[in-house]
Amino acid sequence: MEHIKQYIEENKDRFLAELMDMLRIPSVSADSKYKEDVQRNAEFVKNSLIAAGADKVEVCPTPGHPIVYGEKMIDPALPTVVVYGHYDVQPADPLELWDSPPFEPVIKDGLIVARGSCDDKGQMFMHVKAFELMMKTNSLPCNVKFMIEGEEEVGSSNLGTWIRDNKDRLKGDIILISDTSIIANDIPSIDVGLRGLSYVEVEVTGPNRDLHSGVYGGAVANPITILCEMIAKMKDENNHITIPGFYNDVVVLTDAEREELNRAPFSLDEYKKDLNVEDVHGEKGYTTLERTGIRPTFELNGIWGGYIGEGAKTVLPSKAYAKISMRLVPNQTTDKITEIFTKHFESLAPKSVKVKVTPHHGGEPVVTPTDSIAFKAASMAMETTFGKKPIPTRGGGSIPIVALFEKELGLKSVLMGFGLDSDLIHSPNEHYGIFNFLKGIETIPVFYKNFTDMSK
Ligand code: BES
Ligand code: MN
Ligand code: MN
Repeated sequence: MEHIKQYIEENKDRFLAELMDMLRIPSVSADSKYKEDVQRNAEFVKNSLIAAGADKVEVCPTPGHPIVYGEKMIDPALPTVVVYGHYDVQPADPLELWDSPPFEPVIKDGLIVARGSCDDKGQMFMHVKAFELMMKTNSLPCNVKFMIEGEEEVGSSNLGTWIRDNKDRLKGDIILISDTSIIANDIPSIDVGLRGLSYVEVEVTGPNRDLHSGVYGGAVANPITILCEMIAKMKDENNHITIPGFYNDVVVLTDAEREELNRAPFSLDEYKKDLNVEDVHGEKGYTTLERTGIRPTFELNGIWGGYIGEGAKTVLPSKAYAKISMRLVPNQTTDKITEIFTKHFESLAPKSVKVKVTPHHGGEPVVTPTDSIAFKAASMAMETTFGKKPIPTRGGGSIPIVALFEKELGLKSVLMGFGLDSDLIHSPNEHYGIFNFLKGIETIPVFYKNFTDMSK
């Protein structure tokens, strides 16, 4: 593995400079104002794949943001690794909470600070650089295909169709993704599960117009109050979700499986200290790791209505709104959960209001195998480069496309991420450790080698 270390040592400053160049592109997929920047970022990915030595590199248009494809086929008899990542990022707001501008990357205390530095530009770029390394040192042991999308943060709504239309070109043996976290820089781990997602927006309408809260207050339903009451009914005193049938399909882990999950290093005291909370809060009977890993949730992402400007305005508003996300676990499905939520929510509404539920994007939960060649290849690669065997963990976030890869291509994924939960992804001051960036570049070629050797 000396050639890997040497190549990284000789090129790491350039790797970082190139990543910083990409981080200057504000590729916010949710905001149409950035459409051209997202396109420009796709071109950047294309050019970096070409420079690294990929063939058939193409920016593939979709009805939304483009997908970048590229490949290196060295021998059809050898295995093929399909790399998935995303170059789009979350909006940077609230801007005033950033210590430095989100799209002017800086390096501070060994961390690359910028929107997308970890999620997922920094992690995706490790794959481009690891590929470059293998090409330049003549050590690429198998075939590789890249599929880097620009709509992950908005639900990958066009990737499903694109996959279906490109099944032949995507033929491979395993999907490799770095878009998750490890426990700590000295405690490597591999996610073996991701939660699914059902995301809805609700609208509660009371009277047909905003009213004087003195003239009408007390006699007409206030939609904000009603919405709060309806939401409060969604959980019982044990923080159990009360939507009828919500838990019906949830896969219950055996005691042994739960014990195994809870053996992962975790300090509740440090967790609370980090978040500056006196106590944690969640479903009774489950640990924090279980609450985020194997149990479904019901969360409010935003709630609004009425007057929120300066000073006071005595108004009884006509409407109130909320954005709600439910994280799902195997074998819950987005459609079913959205349906039973909608029915229940509607049933909770008193006659004095009307409610409307609008589903947004969703995604199915997944568990990935731990007894596969690919998982072992990843585990051994991390053991080689970290000096410690990685712990299998269940991630709380969602990457909806992982379930689709399985459904459409029959391909399993390996979630070999290198971020940290403390990297502030989606938050102000997102960052990614230079250590993590370089460790990823070092580990990926070892995965390719292990996977190829073990596939023989
Ligand atoms: N990379 C994250 C998902 C993630 C982060 C998984 C950390 C495990 C650990 C991804 O970019 C993401 O943010 N996904 C969204 C879902 C999407 C449909 C908007 C999420 O989880 O909220
Ligand atoms: Mn991501
Ligand atoms: Mn994300």
